[in-house]
Amino acid sequence: MADKSMIVTAALPYANGEIHLGHLVEYSQADFWTRFHKMKGRDCHYFCADDTHGTPIMVSARQQGITPEELIAGARERHLRDLNGFQVHFDNFSSTNSQTNKEMCSEIFLKMQENAHITTRSINQAYCEHDKMFLPDRFVRGECPKCGTEDQYGDSCDSCGATYAPTDLKSPACSICGNAPVEKASEHVFFKLNDFKEYLRSWLLENCTKEVSNKMLEWFEEDLREWDISRDAPYFGFEIPGFKDKYFYVWVDAPVGYMASAKEWCDANGRDFSKYWDDSEIYHFIGKDIVYFHTLFWPAMLKAANKTTPSGVFVHGMLTVNGVKMSKSKGTFINAKTYLEHLDPMYLRYYYACKFNSSMEDVDLNLEDFVSRVNSDLVGKITNLASRGAQMLNKRLGGELCAPDADGLKVIQMAMEKSEEIAALYASRDFSKALRLIREIGDEANRYFDEKAPWKLIKEDEEETRKILSSTLNLFRILAVYLKPILPEYAKKVEVMFSNLKVIELDDLEKLTDLESHVQAKVSDAKDHAGHSELFWKHSLSLIVSGKLNDYEHLATRIDPKTIDLILEASKKDLKAKEAKTKKKDEKKGNSLMSEITIDDFMKVDLRIAKIVDAGPVEGADKLIRLQLDIGEHGTRQVFAGIKAAYDPKDLIGRHTVMVANLKPRKMKFGMSEGMVLAAGAGGSDLFILSPDDGAKAGDRAK
Ligand code: 2FM
Ligand code: ZN
Repeated sequence: MADKSMIVTAALPYANGEIHLGHLVEYSQADFWTRFHKMKGRDCHYFCADDTHGTPIMVSARQQGITPEELIAGARERHLRDLNGFQVHFDNFSSTNSQTNKEMCSEIFLKMQENAHITTRSINQAYCEHDKMFLPDRFVRGECPKCGTEDQYGDSCDSCGATYAPTDLKSPACSICGNAPVEKASEHVFFKLNDFKEYLRSWLLENCTKEVSNKMLEWFEEDLREWDISRDAPYFGFEIPGFKDKYFYVWVDAPVGYMASAKEWCDANGRDFSKYWDDSEIYHFIGKDIVYFHTLFWPAMLKAANKTTPSGVFVHGMLTVNGVKMSKSKGTFINAKTYLEHLDPMYLRYYYACKFNSSMEDVDLNLEDFVSRVNSDLVGKITNLASRGAQMLNKRLGGELCAPDADGLKVIQMAMEKSEEIAALYASRDFSKALRLIREIGDEANRYFDEKAPWKLIKEDEEETRKILSSTLNLFRILAVYLKPILPEYAKKVEVMFSNLKVIELDDLEKLTDLESHVQAKVSDAKDHAGHSELFWKHSLSLIVSGKLNDYEHLATRIDPKTIDLILEASKKDLKAKEAKTKKKDEKKGNSLMSEITIDDFMKVDLRIAKIVDAGPVEGADKLIRLQLDIGEHGTRQVFAGIKAAYDPKDLIGRHTVMVANLKPRKMKFGMSEGMVLAAGAGGSDLFILSPDDGAKAGDRAK
């Protein structure tokens, strides 16, 4: 039976951020794997898309004063620039905001509904009355209910690790406007995940590694909870068919984006998508932070909609740099763009391959090790074989190759015998082990070259030297085949260099031991009928016996360690530039508050002269003073003012100031704030709130 088609995906990058070296752990390993299968002749395709929906994108677009569509268009351009820059080849890179995805989401949802796996009920959620929207957990900030740390997200505490609901936070505030949210009820749509409990149990055991399935099965001691798949308007996403103003939660339309991307490719390549999806093996590469979505919700959704479920979900660990989490202040949070401005992507691809395996353990990019491995292995061990061999052959022997010598053939045989083993390691994603075998071949090839010392031999015996160089270049060509999934552009240059040669395809490696008496094998062109000299995996078993080498094209140079410092410096600068941009944005936001109001609007503001009857510090707030303000017949108001750098509270008591007396009271962390005092000055200690002459009368309307 013919092999099935393979659909490979990598997690969709969120359109609200840039591609960094952490993302590339995944995009590159899925790329290595797909390229390997393509070289083996499998019908294998790699699909991805931008993940474009959700509250963060809607809010971010608003803050930038652009539409979400404009935001995601910019992100797409930058993502593609970086992914292409790193030689990550997708057969299609779509967007979850596409029409195809919209239709696909509808189709899947309606099927899930028809099969009775959808239900609805009302739930209470944090709602911001100022921004007129429900707040996702990450948009509510406040004090951790467990350890009391301030300014924590609504779902978990960075300090003590506690997880909770936003409603549990003490002094919660909307992270967009700072107001306290209220609780509000709303009807939500749920997916009945528990309908698939038994299916998922066996799916996990069959299609995931033990490491992953054991972890996920911990959830199976109890019933699987219904999954809330809807979000209320306003939301940037797709409306759920049949539910007005209810949108698919971004984690619904994101994985469906895998299908939509594959469908677009099918439509462009004359394939029938529904057959393609259902008859393929489907493999998802993901990070360990999103396992839950891909190994519970996603296969269950597919099953609920009668679609083929994934054959494998490959989970990798996170990137650390020099042993620790990427750090913006140390400059180790490196964007793809910054790296590409300084170094060739193949170096990182090579280094990553040396580190990748099929486990979930974190991947460490040790920058010193990176430089030394690239310089000693990729350049010193592997590329030097080509540069020394090809340059000597071209300069001194007219570039003509011949059949290898007997000793060379032994090394070549050893290199060819590793073909299947290396292929099996690629297939099982043990890239680091594959690379170890490849380096071992490089070691043997160098030993052979050094022992034969062609640079000396050429003075005595040109024809013998030609054989040595031909053996060396044969070995290099085999190495290029083995490295091609990782170094595609490098391999392309090798293909060009070797495109005019004559080769024999070897079905039996034994023939190599006594090549001359066995050469009944047919000599053929390295180029195929169409003039292509593309290397496939099978070419690791073909031997160059004659022909002329094309000019040696430069392949790789050593990394200057100073370049790493430049990258770290540039990454720190990236951070500073980003901070400056945010500041400018905030200022712009401030300015936009200066939009015109009418005199009627202004008349609504009740400015009153207030007597400061009490003033004191606010525990836990460095900048605030608590003021008790008397506005005559209207009573007193408590106001928190950020003026501590300018005044000592005790100097304020008994003096007068101007306040906005009819501001709607706001619940702050420290209590209710019932107005606002007006201040002049540049800020910090240069702030003035007091009336110069204290003959003022509390409660008078300020002029
Ligand atoms: O975690 C993330 O960055 C998500 N954007 C991944 C989505 S993957 C898939 F489900 F689409
Ligand atoms: Zn708000």
